[in-house]
Amino acid sequence: MSLPLVLLWLSLETLGAPTDSAPVAGLTIPLVRRNPTTLDVEALGQQAKAQRDYVNNKYFGGQSTQKRSSGYNLIVDQGYDSGYYGSLAIGTPPTSFEVLLDTGSSDLWVAGTSCGQACDGIPMFNPSSSSTFKNQSTPFFIQYGQGEAAGYVATDTVQMAGFSVSNQGFAVVDTVSQGLLSAPVSGLLGLAWGSIASSQQTPLWQTLASSGAWDTAEFAVQLTRYTNDTNAQELEPGGVLTMGYTNSSLYTGQIEYIDIPGEPSYWYLPLDTVTVQGASIPLTSSSIAAIDTGTTNIAGPVDAVQAIYAQIPGSQPATGSWTGYYQFPCSTQVSVSFSFGGTTWSMSPADFAYAPLSSSQCIGAFFETSSGTGNSATPSWIIGDAFLKNVYSVFRYSPPAVGFAALSETAIAENGVNAPVPTPTIGSVSAAVTNVGAALPRRELSSILAGIALTASITLML
Ligand SMILES: *[C@@H]1O[C@H](CO)[C@@H](O)[C@H](O)[C@H]1NC(C)=O
Ligand SMILES: *[C@@H]1O[C@H](CO)[C@@H](O)[C@H](O)[C@H]1NC(C)=O
Ligand SMILES: *[C@@H]1O[C@H](CO)[C@@H](O)[C@H](O)[C@H]1NC(C)=O
Repeated sequence: MSLPLVLLWLSLETLGAPTDSAPVAGLTIPLVRRNPTTLDVEALGQQAKAQRDYVNNKYFGGQSTQKRSSGYNLIVDQGYDSGYYGSLAIGTPPTSFEVLLDTGSSDLWVAGTSCGQACDGIPMFNPSSSSTFKNQSTPFFIQYGQGEAAGYVATDTVQMAGFSVSNQGFAVVDTVSQGLLSAPVSGLLGLAWGSIASSQQTPLWQTLASSGAWDTAEFAVQLTRYTNDTNAQELEPGGVLTMGYTNSSLYTGQIEYIDIPGEPSYWYLPLDTVTVQGASIPLTSSSIAAIDTGTTNIAGPVDAVQAIYAQIPGSQPATGSWTGYYQFPCSTQVSVSFSFGGTTWSMSPADFAYAPLSSSQCIGAFFETSSGTGNSATPSWIIGDAFLKNVYSVFRYSPPAVGFAALSETAIAENGVNAPVPTPTIGSVSAAVTNVGAALPRRELSSILAGIALTASITLML
């Protein structure tokens, strides 16, 4: 059986940038609670709902939630905008782990203590130290472009951003290709929809959103930029993931929501136009773009990527490990914009200039993929962090939609600041949910597995 390929791209380390940082000791998770302070009609209503949910759960196997809430998790920017990770805790008592935040896939997995040398220096999950750990004993396997991760599916209590989900499915990985994980990151949190979960487990976010645990059934992401900061360190403050609300201090104007045009799997949208230096690039009629925090750069169809670089004098296809990418004169400030749902969003030239190849030549952020067919199972465009740093992104559960808003001055001012990397802290839980652990329908997964050639996803540090 074939499984989704996940792109693996070399980080800046291939160009001589600093290597791994040391693992962080004593990890804890930052939590924020927004509890009602006075007992009012709304609170009473929530109590009534909680009791109803409790009864439904106990007697009819439904999901329960004690009360609606919201929370946030501070993100870390790893490898000069190559990857963004957050923290969650697994088990009883909870142990925290750093996980790449990936809206381009749907599985949660962490390295287990059974992982071999490939996990050296990486904090590992020890199933025997958790009293709530349950082994599902089903195999888990993901094939990446340059490696793979394998293990088994289990359930345990998972906490994140003040939420606790008992019986959450995830994978314990015990075989991982060398270089797949870079300390302090222990795994990956898939934030797309359960229909494409290799583990067939309902994703953490979807359990929370569907159970009514969130004030508003959406999560939002703000990502920082350090790529053009010559003083940047390997780890920097990366922005914030909010669950159950959007933070109006981080954006201005309206959030423009664009509905997902079909069954949700990835967070995919029709891409209306792409312009480069003001010129429109011809797009095929079915340009479907996956919005993917787990991919550093931007993948597009070969024709379109060629057309983009055709607008940049002196650009040419790159070679060697950069095959599929292009080089261009670093002195050229390249402005790209994307239109989704009638609104145009521009991308900073700083994010277009992905990496310096020499003193005068830079690698551009757009690379070719011939894998996407343009339908929802294999999006033809993968819109990664190079774009997402430029907007406030909202991922809505119902109706399924992605929203974009302009970053506020406050958010922009967080780019490139010399500030400490957020320290995870395990705090108290403001809302608890029981995942009923229902297996996801196989239907969509198998159709995707049959047709897939490209699943966008994570950028890994080698
Ligand atoms: C869980 O089950 C898998 C598959 O049977 C097995 O390989 C693994 O060792 C088990 N893990 C634990 C902690 O029991
Ligand atoms: C980095 O790029 C941003 C966006 O274009 C720009 O506002 C900022 O001044 C740049 N920072 C540096 C240090 O050049
Ligand atoms: C919203 O963002 C601002 C700016 O980062 C921060 O100071 C504030 O605490 C945030 N509020 C919430 C509720 O997340």
